[in-house]
Amino acid sequence: MTQDEMKQAVARAAIEQVPSGCIIGVGTGSTANHFINELGKIKNKIEGAVASSEATANLLRSHGIAVLDLNSVDQLELYVDGADEITHNMHMIKGGGGALTREKIVAAVSRKFVCVADETKLVDLLGKFPLPVEVIPMARSYVSRELAKLGGQPKLRAGFTTDNGNVILDVHGLSIMNPVELEGIINQITGVVTNGLFARRPADLLLLGTSNGVRQIRA
Ligand code: 5RP
Repeated sequence: MTQDEMKQAVARAAIEQVPSGCIIGVGTGSTANHFINELGKIKNKIEGAVASSEATANLLRSHGIAVLDLNSVDQLELYVDGADEITHNMHMIKGGGGALTREKIVAAVSRKFVCVADETKLVDLLGKFPLPVEVIPMARSYVSRELAKLGGQPKLRAGFTTDNGNVILDVHGLSIMNPVELEGIINQITGVVTNGLFARRPADLLLLGTSNGVRQIRA
């Protein structure tokens, strides 16, 4: 089974988690895109969706799924999104696609976070995947120096602007022993919008695509 087939399998499995008559949150990336394609087949089961990026909003609309403004919604029953790395504790690194800030906002409003990922994403220790940090453009150099003090090597994601008009620093070389603490420390640096550690609001359920089928993992 290829990596993409595993992503398709978890996307199909995630459809079983979708409650009837609700508004759900939808993430960004290739696995989330597979989920949206499956969601299109059952679109009448849901009232609509809140998107974590412009790309996701466009794909949802192309399937005829109503895209709602998060400010018009008090709570989302479910959020489905991928990850770049995830541990058995359900802590994640996200933001490979650059949508981390909106993803974190939608996740914060969701009662249940289902992470959909292929088996290459499950790790014992976060940090091999460079940690994305969204930064206000004028603070780029200052934030880079502060991130270097934490032991990382930040690199500007060339030619990329987020949906919020900001830049991304990808921080290489971190061994993240305490993701909850580091998430807070990085978010305290002035000029940081958010970082791609999802440890304070971890996933509730991981649907992991493997060559032997889809595994369900909880913390
Ligand atoms: C986007 C993300 C994605 O969930 C993450 O990059 C995984 O992407 P993919 O499903 O394409 O492997 O955080 O900002």
